[in-house]
Amino acid sequence: FNVPVPVNEAINSYAPGTKERELLQSALKEARAKELDIPMYIGGKEVRTNNKGRITPPHDHQHLLATYSKGEKKHVEDAINAALTAKSNWENLAWEHRAAIFLKAADLIAGPYRYKINAATMLGQSKNAFQAEIDAACELIDFLRFNVAYMAEIYQQQPPVSPRGSWNRVEQRPLEGFVFALTPFNFTAIAGNLPSSAAMMGNVVVWKPSNTQIYAANVIMEVFKEAGLPDGVINLVYVSGPEAGEVIFSHPDFAGIHFTGSTGVFQDIWKTVGNNIHKFKTYPRIVGETGGKDFILVDGTADTQVAATAILRGAFEYQGQKCSAASRVYIAKSNWPAIKEQLLNDLATLKMGPTEDFTNFINAVIDEKSFDNLARYIDQAKKDRGVEIIAGGNYDKSKGYFIEPTVLVVDDPKYTTMCEELFGPVLTVYVYDDNKFDEILDIIDTTSIYALTGAFISQDRYAIEKATQKLRNAAGNFYINDKCTGAVVGQQPFGGARGSGTNDKAGSMINLLRWVSPRTIKETF
Ligand code: ALA
Repeated sequence: FNVPVPVNEAINSYAPGTKERELLQSALKEARAKELDIPMYIGGKEVRTNNKGRITPPHDHQHLLATYSKGEKKHVEDAINAALTAKSNWENLAWEHRAAIFLKAADLIAGPYRYKINAATMLGQSKNAFQAEIDAACELIDFLRFNVAYMAEIYQQQPPVSPRGSWNRVEQRPLEGFVFALTPFNFTAIAGNLPSSAAMMGNVVVWKPSNTQIYAANVIMEVFKEAGLPDGVINLVYVSGPEAGEVIFSHPDFAGIHFTGSTGVFQDIWKTVGNNIHKFKTYPRIVGETGGKDFILVDGTADTQVAATAILRGAFEYQGQKCSAASRVYIAKSNWPAIKEQLLNDLATLKMGPTEDFTNFINAVIDEKSFDNLARYIDQAKKDRGVEIIAGGNYDKSKGYFIEPTVLVVDDPKYTTMCEELFGPVLTVYVYDDNKFDEILDIIDTTSIYALTGAFISQDRYAIEKATQKLRNAAGNFYINDKCTGAVVGQQPFGGARGSGTNDKAGSMINLLRWVSPRTIKETF
């Protein structure tokens, strides 16, 4: 099976007057008109309970989009059992069968499901049409197609050397047990990628999405089923984190976790897994992408237009809720006035409101907890000395969780919002003296508790080389003269180390190799 050479999916613009825009608008209308009753999926069966959770658009929290069935520990146990029952048939299929299923899933999203999955992401997670398109459609399609190509490469690797009289081979076995996929609200693509990349390598999966992502997760599951994924290979449950953890992290067949979420939760998982290590048949694979406090550094030679655009897009697209989003910016004094003017002018043109109005660039933040947290930081900034709010600063949760894109300028590069993860549309700027470039590199490195993404805007080749070297460990994805968001599958493998995770690059062979446990076989004849 010659797997097609993957090409990144082309992005629909949804410009006014296009057929795609009309189709997306009708998908939105259709979704809004229905009140779905979303089930869990265990062993291929839809499982409903009487304990219902509510799903409402973050930008319109009084509108009931859907209910979902909340599960409990018993459902996690059922999901593990269903996965283990499916395991033998699934892992004994030749990899080409698994490739066919996930390639078909990619084609379904690229075709008949494109508008439905984008509409679900726009309504359930408050992404605008463009942000939904590059995530739920393009990035998810790319994950599936590129991962299948990497998978094929892994299974078709050159065997080791076999001297005369011997036959050496390496068998890529799936992990012994099941994999737990825990997915975040902020990317539908990640929700699709975490369970599918493990499943592709022959593993069976229990998948628990964030409660604020269930609406899109349900569409992904529909796609996987329609693509022919056998029952029990991926089981989707909606249970609380502690309940799921209690069952999963003490199960002898727990063989790995594929996680994207907060640093705190990931650290708790490591601790629990460590404490229970004697209970498992094998050392579980722990693969996680966690928090970020991503930076943009701008020197005195930078093109001010490039810098202003990188800052605006990096900080405020999807309300700053990408793990890669810029939340701290360091700008050389000589360049600040021009960049500030450009940034404020551009910000003034951005509209904020519900996603269904395609002219809104800024939509709501994900939920009340996040809204309240961001509002607290803004209120504190209003009180603190040495902090100036030069844009935004207002918020309103009466209809949806709206926070104005906010820019703080601080006189201390270690001010709280320069160091702590906020996960929202609040950007902090520190202006440094042009002759203190080396010091600012040190400050960035030492305050990078997280190390996910970073960017440097400059036209000075020596400075570019110096920053690239000095900030080597401060970001797993480093961008030069570009924003720090928007990694494209197959182009910029994504992930970071330090507090940002295990850096097992999503959408790469490195990641897929975590889901196999090779066996070396030698025969002498
Ligand atoms: N992969 C996503 C980005 O780079 C998080 O923005």
